[in-house]
Amino acid sequence: MGAGFSGAVASYYARHRRGYPPEVIDTVVEAFGLGVDDLVIDLGCGTGQLSLPLAARVGAVVGVDPEPDMLALARPAAQDAGRDNAAWLLGSDRDLPVLGRVLGNRAVGALTVAVAIHFMDRATLFPAARPLLRPGGGVAVITNGTPLWLQDTAWSRALRGSLERLIGHPVTATCQTDEAGRRRNREALTAAGYRYVESSVRYEAPLTIADMVGGVFSAMSGDDLPSPQIRSAFADDLRAALDGQDSVTEQVRVWLQLGLLD
Ligand SMILES: C[S@@+](CC[C@H](N)C(=O)[O-])C[C@H]1O[C@@H](n2cnc3c(N)ncnc32)[C@H](O)[C@@H]1O
Repeated sequence: MGAGFSGAVASYYARHRRGYPPEVIDTVVEAFGLGVDDLVIDLGCGTGQLSLPLAARVGAVVGVDPEPDMLALARPAAQDAGRDNAAWLLGSDRDLPVLGRVLGNRAVGALTVAVAIHFMDRATLFPAARPLLRPGGGVAVITNGTPLWLQDTAWSRALRGSLERLIGHPVTATCQTDEAGRRRNREALTAAGYRYVESSVRYEAPLTIADMVGGVFSAMSGDDLPSPQIRSAFADDLRAALDGQDSVTEQVRVWLQLGLLD
């Protein structure tokens, strides 16, 4: 079933991908008036980067993902965080209508999709979510910043260079984190009849070389992951390109695109 986030890729993801700062969680909670009576579905939950901080603020979270290896890491992460109100379901965006029938209509405070909308069919997903959502609830599409290798900084250009030497061709994948991707989200939410609200949260945070390396491998499909020796050579190449720096500062901008049901 999965979407390529299998095996070592899932481990890189859990270890090296950023979660979300409190301002992002606050924005979602406040926009939909979420509280202890609410259930949230986090679709494309991965290893729980968004599900777990949300679970701290609502009644329960159901994390849904087609990749068993990601869910297998989400569950212990929830235990480590002391979150006993999160459940993990193997499934995809196409399962939402059935999930709605299981839960009952108007049971859900919010459907969240973080860094995963580019895998889904927005035109069917957003209308399908409407009957599940209580009045005042809605859909949150979240994008966790520009990919590490596409930023306008010296360290990002160095990373892009190392990555292009590794894979042998230019890297251009934006994972729809750019304006064109956001426009698709905005248009699809509006077309499905939601009231659209957009905001962003900026912050800066340290980024180690290990996180850059792990971040790159966490974005590959399990089938494309190079051998451990080649991965290690890539890390050496990047370290040399960065003149031995251990860490840089990343300027992160998280976009929140909300569709509200009034
Ligand atoms: C980049 S990860 C995002 C994980 C997490 N939401 C986060 O914020 O870091 C994308 C996730 O979407 C999942 N995914 C891929 N196709 C999907 C689909 N059709 N429906 C639901 N999830 C999907 C992948 O398995 C992966 O775990």
